[in-house]
Amino acid sequence: MRVLVTGGCGFIGSHVVRALLAEGHTVTNLDALTYAANPANLATVASHAHYRFVHGDICDVPLVRDLVAEADTVLNFAAETHVDRSLLDPGVFVRTDVEGVVTLLEAVRTTRDVMLVHMSTDEVFGSLPAGMEAAEEAPFAPTSPYSASKAAAELQIRAYAETYHLPVTVMRSCNVYGPNQHIEKFIPLFITRALAGAPLPLYGDGLQEREWIYVDDLVAAVRVVLAGLPRAPGVHAIHIGTGERLPNRAVAETICRLAGGNESLIQRVGDRPGHDRRYALDSGRLRARGWTPAVAIKEGLALTVRWYAENAAAWEPAQGAEFREYFQRQYGERLGAG
Ligand SMILES: NC(=O)c1ccc[n+]([C@@H]2O[C@H](COP(=O)([O-])OP(=O)(O)OC[C@H]3O[C@@H](n4cnc5c(N)ncnc54)[C@H](O)[C@@H]3O)[C@@H](O)[C@H]2O)c1
Repeated sequence: MRVLVTGGCGFIGSHVVRALLAEGHTVTNLDALTYAANPANLATVASHAHYRFVHGDICDVPLVRDLVAEADTVLNFAAETHVDRSLLDPGVFVRTDVEGVVTLLEAVRTTRDVMLVHMSTDEVFGSLPAGMEAAEEAPFAPTSPYSASKAAAELQIRAYAETYHLPVTVMRSCNVYGPNQHIEKFIPLFITRALAGAPLPLYGDGLQEREWIYVDDLVAAVRVVLAGLPRAPGVHAIHIGTGERLPNRAVAETICRLAGGNESLIQRVGDRPGHDRRYALDSGRLRARGWTPAVAIKEGLALTVRWYAENAAAWEPAQGAEFREYFQRQYGERLGAG
């Protein structure tokens, strides 16, 4: 395949780029290098003969048109991805997560013969009651500016698929964790702070339930999806979930134990406004294609804690002024009041 990966310098994208190159595919990585990017994630493949990096924006119409024309498959991971930041600065989420997807759709529509595969999230369904799982056809009910942007992108995809008879595959994943995730996200934030013996700011009662997938299992799922992309016009949605659902507090406690810290590091702080209580995906469609997760959450968390403990050089640069300013804005008052 000749794959255009967008957002390849981020967390998930970088794992997928490495896997695609290892399988012999040709990869162009288009990434705007926002604060969330870490080009070091791809240091081991930077000079690979079948890899090319393009520094650019998925909203750049001529650039995207040219790059899409060279590809047979477009894999869109470029996005603003942090719910907390979407409360602080929603505009950039609409721009990248919605306008960026429309830019890709326009390029795919005019090029034809290019398969678009878009990464979405379980958050488009909003909070689900206990016992319920969202199937692929479940109605959207997003509650944050982030999830609303992701849902809006999906509506644009649906409109293009309908209007122009495009085949588009949409993967919706549960929460992903593992090496190389930006340190402001829940699991890396708590790991890096637990390793430093710093307080862990847990929102509200910590009983918000999330479904977790280790990044290697996510990559395996993406490979299964790519191996059988439907070519019939329409939106082909597929859920990537493990069924491993845990309250945030339980994840925080496990991290404390694994990082050699004390659970007293966990500090309950004021909740995030509109914080969804529970996400859960029905991933039967993917499992019917032979995929099952290989890494249970306890094992995955142990691998992840070990990686952050042993690879400080990979993530410490992300602790610069921009991160400190964000952390202060997001948690400064909360920790002070906690
Ligand atoms: N991480 C998760 O738990 C999770 C769960 C479900 C879905 N997703 C989705 O998976 C995708 C990847 O998530 P991630 O966690 O790897 O994200 P990330 O924040 O780690 O990386 C995003 C990447 O996109 C790039 N980017 C941002 N704006 C861009 C633009 N305008 N043009 C080009 N590049 C741009 C950034 O520089 C960065 O390299 C996103 O679509 C996200 O919504 C993530």
